[in-house]
Amino acid sequence: MQIQNNISLKHYNTFGIDVKAKQFVSVNSIDELKSIYKSEKHSPKFILGGGSNMLLTKDIDALVLHINLKGINITSQTKDTVFVQAKAGENWHEFVLWTLDNDFGGLENLSLIPGNVGTSPIQNIGAYGVELKDTFESCEVLNLETLEVETFKNSDCGFGYRNSIFKQNAKDKYIILNVLFKLTKKHHILNTNYGAITSELEHMKVLKPTIQDVSKAVISIRQSKLPNPKEIGNSGSFFKNPIISETAFLELQNNFPKVPHYVISKNEIKVPAGWLIETAGFKGKKLGNYGVHKKQALVLVNYGGASGKDILELSRLIQKTVFRLFDINIDAEVNII
Ligand code: EPU
Repeated sequence: MQIQNNISLKHYNTFGIDVKAKQFVSVNSIDELKSIYKSEKHSPKFILGGGSNMLLTKDIDALVLHINLKGINITSQTKDTVFVQAKAGENWHEFVLWTLDNDFGGLENLSLIPGNVGTSPIQNIGAYGVELKDTFESCEVLNLETLEVETFKNSDCGFGYRNSIFKQNAKDKYIILNVLFKLTKKHHILNTNYGAITSELEHMKVLKPTIQDVSKAVISIRQSKLPNPKEIGNSGSFFKNPIISETAFLELQNNFPKVPHYVISKNEIKVPAGWLIETAGFKGKKLGNYGVHKKQALVLVNYGGASGKDILELSRLIQKTVFRLFDINIDAEVNII
């Protein structure tokens, strides 16, 4: 374990933004993590996981800790259920593929989401009708005040839509070390209700889908809509889908009868931010080396060499325009640093 100075973070964030860390260290074990916190007590620290949910707008004047804890273990199992622990530094999609190779069900709809296991609970990652919280049993965290390892159960985490206590009260107080998942070994429960999955499975001519088929369908849908961060820098959905009141929705629908929406409860309607941004005219807009993805308006992209400030400015322009046109606030999903 070696602390390096003045390191570019370009390859450590999926937006591919070239900012520098004042200091940088890759941490491979809990003991290393504890020893850094003891020896570097006074230096400000910045925790970096997969770098897939952040927009870096400036150099990081701190010691960047790259969490590189690796390992996947079955901790216990019954006839039908298996508990699998994955360490924080495991790549999310590679972990999902591991579960599918073992025929363990529950994570197939979350295939191809960028990022690492350790950051997945922070924003309760979700896609195609499934969220992390559906299979999350617990996680172990390092309490940064006491340097003790603690366990958070599912009910302790305050999971919500792209939200958890790790974004709220517990922010900056813990480092997630590993996550324990409760998965099925048989009688897998398939979530194929999400429209695009049904039609993709039909297209694949699959009549009785397996969890592996669902994963393949999800991968194919994602690849057709979402840019691969290895090719075009991006952070997935840049904004959250706004949830508005029924009154506000009826007014919107009056002006735009075709507006897609999901009813969450009597007075909560979710409207796709992608639709609002597209209708505001931003889809596919290119401003030099950055812009809005041409197939999914929710995704802002860095074509190479853009600065975080450029992308932040574009996001603010989008927010302002959407507010002016629809009277709806859309909040960033990514963390702006
Ligand atoms: N839409 C548009 N224009 C666009 C994009 C979407 O009109 O440019 C419309 C679509 O036609 C559809 C609706 O919006 O009627 C929903 O679109 P989609 O199914 O693509 O999903 P989304 O709501 O835009 C969310 C997640 C994605 C996740 C998909 C699939 C959020 C913020 N985003 O997007 O998550 O993959 O559902 O479940 O909730 C991510 O978080 O990084 C991410 C990609």
